[in-house]
Amino acid sequence: MSLVAPLPEVVVSRGSVLSTQLLTGPEVDALVVPVAPPAEGDEGVQPRTGTADAAARFGVDLGELADRLEMTGAAGDATTLHLPRSASVERELPWSRLPATVVVVGVGAGTLQDLRRAGAAIARSTRGMRRVVTTVGADAGSDGTRALVEGYLLGAYRHPTRATGKPAKAPAASLVLLGRYTQAAVDAAGLAAMATWTARTLTVTPSDTKNPAWLAERAAELATAAGLTVEVLGPQELAARGFGGLLAVGGGSATGPRLVTVRYEPPAPAPTRNRAGTAAGPARPGSTPRHIVLVGKGITYDTGGISIKPRESMVPMKTDMAGAAVVLATVLGAAAAGVQHRVTALLPLAENAFGGSSYRPGDVLRLYGGTTVEITNTDAEGRIVLADALSHADADLDPDVLIDVATLTGAATLGLGKQHGALYTAEDALACALQDAGDETGELLWRMPLVADYRPVLDSDVADLRHVPVDPHVGGGSITAALFLQRFVGDRRWAHLDIAGPARATAASHELPEGATGFGARLLLRWLTQLR
Ligand code: BES
Ligand code: MN
Ligand code: ZN
Repeated sequence: MSLVAPLPEVVVSRGSVLSTQLLTGPEVDALVVPVAPPAEGDEGVQPRTGTADAAARFGVDLGELADRLEMTGAAGDATTLHLPRSASVERELPWSRLPATVVVVGVGAGTLQDLRRAGAAIARSTRGMRRVVTTVGADAGSDGTRALVEGYLLGAYRHPTRATGKPAKAPAASLVLLGRYTQAAVDAAGLAAMATWTARTLTVTPSDTKNPAWLAERAAELATAAGLTVEVLGPQELAARGFGGLLAVGGGSATGPRLVTVRYEPPAPAPTRNRAGTAAGPARPGSTPRHIVLVGKGITYDTGGISIKPRESMVPMKTDMAGAAVVLATVLGAAAAGVQHRVTALLPLAENAFGGSSYRPGDVLRLYGGTTVEITNTDAEGRIVLADALSHADADLDPDVLIDVATLTGAATLGLGKQHGALYTAEDALACALQDAGDETGELLWRMPLVADYRPVLDSDVADLRHVPVDPHVGGGSITAALFLQRFVGDRRWAHLDIAGPARATAASHELPEGATGFGARLLLRWLTQLR
């Protein structure tokens, strides 16, 4: 059985609610149509594409019914109408040959976020049905289609259950998009959703299963199946190459650390020919192939180590490898999408365990490349394993852009809440591009400052630097963590995403499930797809 469950099917069908044969065919359990909030000065929700046709075909005043049911038309608001069947064969009702269920879904103002939410609402209200037909978003263009289908597929996701490994509850319905939808947008949404499903599934796996060796094996399996090259370094190889940070953080665990490298090479561009018939560079003008290196924090469980966490804070820490899951899902998605750039994902994997061989506060570690670091708090383990991987990327991989993703600090969550990831970069253009990608996928980033004046708080008397300020009054815990990482990226173009907040949700809402959200995979994939 494969690790990640298959996505529900989404197909496009040309035609209209008035004329399509689909609605009288077998297996279609529901028709889903859109409404928007009342126009100014008006009462009553407004029908959107397909809703008036549905009213005509079913012979039911859907607008009047929606108002009586007090529908608002707000994005993600959905009402299921169960149409009665006739009690006698002599008396046919107008809808008797049509699906017995009509779902009316609010699409709000029709923004991408609204359509994503409408899509998730369709998934929620039709779970367990075989096939549903919808016209929601049919007039919203290709970006709208992508958002709607992403919302549908993200809302259809269920975490696997322990006993069976399969998702709980009934599977999501197969979705038919009825109207002028673009197939390319549907395909792109499928790739994006698959990346998120992969990240969620890995992140939610309990840590008695998910130790560094297990996660390295799953990464290798997934990458090999996608035709990518994988390399896994174990403790001995890490020691031989000087990864002193990853070894120290992973030292207290019964399962030693791993460093996984997954490489994607774009297909060689067909060369264009000049008049003399000689090759004249890549076929895509304006697009220079770059090398993007993505680094993801992969702590398979974070007890805090010797600086042990309080009981309550430890409970969610099986998700402390969300960054590694996200960069893995992104490189797999980049391959599936045929991205035009080289993408390398680095996954430093370790369990921050409590034990006799754990590293200690006061230890001085020698990280990859020779920088020494004084440990003041073993619970700040993420920045240590990231520093090893970032140094290696800078020294050996020659990245054009280096991006790390990490559930790094509780401080980021305190400052920004759970809806925004904290974004750090010295480069405005990179900040904008990542933020734009996040706006388009619904994974919001908020840019934070790399305050140069705070750098001295990382000075140490016994090492090149310390990883956490000892003075508790410094504040800015997410900022000082970013400043620490910046010491290991050389002169590279670099961005750091602290996803401690949005990587997990405390309750399901719209396209997010409770627990692991997979935050970041879609925005990175989107950024890579648009990168020129
Ligand atoms: N994995 C945690 C950060 C975290 C906290 C993620 C809450 C998600 C939710 C990280 O390793 C950690 O423990 N950070 C410490 C840093 C401190 C010791 C400087 C923190 O945020 O308290
Ligand atoms: Mn920690
Ligand atoms: Zn951690």
